[in-house]
Amino acid sequence: MKKVIIAIDGHSACGKSTLAKSLAKELKYVYIDSGAMYRAITFYALQNDYILEDGTVLKSQLLDDLNKINISFNYNSVTGKSDTFLNGINVEEEIRKMNVSKSVSAISKLKEVRTKLVDFQRKLGKHKGVVMDGRDIGTVVFPDAELKLWVTANIEVRTARRYKELLEKGQQISLDEVRDNVNFRDLQDSSRKESPLKRANDCKDIDNSTLSKNETLHLAVGYANDAIVSH
Ligand code: CDP
Repeated sequence: MKKVIIAIDGHSACGKSTLAKSLAKELKYVYIDSGAMYRAITFYALQNDYILEDGTVLKSQLLDDLNKINISFNYNSVTGKSDTFLNGINVEEEIRKMNVSKSVSAISKLKEVRTKLVDFQRKLGKHKGVVMDGRDIGTVVFPDAELKLWVTANIEVRTARRYKELLEKGQQISLDEVRDNVNFRDLQDSSRKESPLKRANDCKDIDNSTLSKNETLHLAVGYANDAIVSH
């Protein structure tokens, strides 16, 4: 069967990665989390004090280091998921924390950061058979993807899901803080100059506000099978 590229885009915490992971498993495709890459660079910037208390990014320092930043993914047999590595160190847990979520939009809007990561993402998708999620996958990274999904859910559902996820990871956080961060990132990601988050014209829409994970997966598998058969 011919392999295709499946691009999944949408707002923060809408369940893109949950869907992308399960869809990739179902199709025996590779799942690639592009958001983890932006998070890893943000974590690097925080570690090196390139992001000041007031949120200012020391852009030239970070850009000077870009060639030294290496991101990779390795399968974790304990969790059954892929972990993100930054220069050989597992940063999977760190990059999901709120300090990274608060700064990531300031890093992901930088043109040079995007150029580096889009190049990497295209290399990973070269042989097709990938499900990649993010903000610009169907519009910029793979504009010719055979299937583009635009995933949405209402803000309260998204906030509640992310809040639960963070609590389960032992993070001390309030519901309001999570909602503010989700809203803030949506606004920043949609209004930036470089590759803003936007719905591709030729995408299929999935609003999973009232759908279970399985129902969402079922819908996506249907779209994926159609795309595979027709290409
Ligand atoms: O999981 P969640 O939806 O909260 O976010 P994520 O997919 O981990 O992405 C984190 C951040 O990375 C986003 O808020 C964007 O600023 C940035 N991002 C991006 O600009 N382009 C992508 N293709 C993926 C993520």
